[in-house]
Amino acid sequence: MPLTSSPIGVFDSGVGGLSVLRALRAALPNERFVYLADSANAPYGERGDAYVSARTHAITRYLREQHHIKALVVACNTATAAAIHEVRSSYPDLPLVGLEPAIKPALAVTQTGRVGVIGTRGTLTSSKFGKLLASLDGQAQFVVQPCDGLAHAIERSVDLPEPAPGSAVGATETGALCERYIHAMGEFGTAPGQIDTLVLGCTHYIFVAHELRALVGPGVQFIETGEPVARQTRRLLESAGLLRNARAGALAHAAEYPDGGAAADAENEGPDEALSDVPNTRLLTTGSVAMLQAGAQRWLGLPADCCSTVSVP
Ligand code: DGL
Repeated sequence: MPLTSSPIGVFDSGVGGLSVLRALRAALPNERFVYLADSANAPYGERGDAYVSARTHAITRYLREQHHIKALVVACNTATAAAIHEVRSSYPDLPLVGLEPAIKPALAVTQTGRVGVIGTRGTLTSSKFGKLLASLDGQAQFVVQPCDGLAHAIERSVDLPEPAPGSAVGATETGALCERYIHAMGEFGTAPGQIDTLVLGCTHYIFVAHELRALVGPGVQFIETGEPVARQTRRLLESAGLLRNARAGALAHAAEYPDGGAAADAENEGPDEALSDVPNTRLLTTGSVAMLQAGAQRWLGLPADCCSTVSVP
C-alpha cells in the first residue's frame, strides 16, 4: 500500500524525461522521485506499439513492485500514445499522468494560425494523436513533422561538450537533424502564413531547444509539457490524499541524515532551504550509467551518485 512518503515514479525511453523530472522537482520539492531511463531500449519512437507497450508494462510493474511508487508519470509521449490506456486499466488504483503533444495549448498562443508539431513517428502516427488532431479540426493549421533519429541523437550527445558559441547549427548530429526537419516544415516567423508556434511533442527535444531556436528565430513560441504535467501530478496526488508535505519531508530527512539539522526546519510550511539539499531523487537506467550521470549533472545539477544501473527484463 503506497504511503505519502513513497516516491513518485517517472519514466522515459531515455534521458528525455529528465526535462519533465526537472519540472516535477521544482513544483513538488517535498516529494521523493525514482526516475527510470530505459536507455538500453531507446529510442522508442521507431519501434512500434507492441514493443513500446510491453516495455511500458514491464517498467510500471518494476517501479510498483521494487520501489512501491505512489504515482507514475509516463514522461514519454511515445509510451503514452502506445500504452497509457492499458496501464490505466491494469493499475486502476495508481495515479497516472501521461504526456501528449500540447497542441490544444498552442491554439491559445498562435496568432498566424499555423502551428508546427514535432515528435517521434510513434507518437505522431498514433491513433491517440490522430483523434486529438481531429478534435481540433479547423481551429488551426497543424504542420506535423516526425523527427526520426532525433531522440536517439540527443541520447548519444548527452556527454559531448556544448558546441562552441557561434558555430553553425548543422555542425553537430542533433543540429543537422533539427535543420533537416525544421526546413521540411516550411517558413517560421510571425508574419501571416508563417508557423509562429512550435509544439515540442517529445520530451527529449527540450534539450535541443537552443538549436531549434537558432533555426526558427526569436519570435516563434515553443510549447512543451513539463510544467503542466507537474501541476497535474500535484492535483492528482492532492485528490488521492498522497501529497507529501514539508514536515514529512523534513522528518524523513532528519531520520535518514541525523546530523543534517533539518529537524529544525520541520515546522516550516512549504518548501524550505534544508529540504532542497535532500538527495530525494534516484535515477536508474537500463543502459549506460555514464550517460545518465552526464544528463543528470548537466540538466538537473544532480550528483553522479544518484544514478545506478538496473535490469528490467
Ligand atoms: N522521449 C520520448 C517521447 O517523449 C521518446 C523518444 C524516443 O525514445 O524515441 O516521445
